[in-house]
Amino acid sequence: NGGTVYTTNCASCHGPAGAGVPGAFPPLAGNKAILGSEKYVSDVLLYGLQGQINAGGQNYNGVMPAWAATLSDAEIAAVLTHVRTSWGNSAPAVTADTVKTERGTPLTAQQVLAERPQ
Ligand code: HEM
Repeated sequence: NGGTVYTTNCASCHGPAGAGVPGAFPPLAGNKAILGSEKYVSDVLLYGLQGQINAGGQNYNGVMPAWAATLSDAEIAAVLTHVRTSWGNSAPAVTADTVKTERGTPLTAQQVLAERPQ
């Protein structure tokens, strides 16, 4: 399930409770940028994210790895649904159908940055 995918693949950077590491890895708990568009978060997971962002009042300029080669549409949907509904977050589930659709349009990590809500 999404919690297992998170513990295995994400917690090393974003922390076991999504708190991140200030200045290095952005928080997922309480991060409004990831609670809106299903398309944006699906693209972050499939293609990664690179460039300057501000999250939780801190700046980040790192590299989020791409998971298109290692996680299935169902796994990506499950882990995104997990982070959008854990640690006080509340946002609609992400469906495997949305991830499948996004997989059809490859993007660079810099192009994903341009989709990030301001
Ligand atoms: C950004 C989720 C694994 C490092 C993000 C964002 C999401 C996310 C949704 C966008 C945050 C925003 O827009 O504010 C996940 C999930 C993971 C995962 C669900 C597991 C499948 C990792 C790992 C690393 C990492 C393993 C470190 C090697 C980063 C960094 C950013 C980021 C550095 C910000 C990139 C930038 O500064 O532009 N992650 N992540 N993530 N993630 Fe992850």
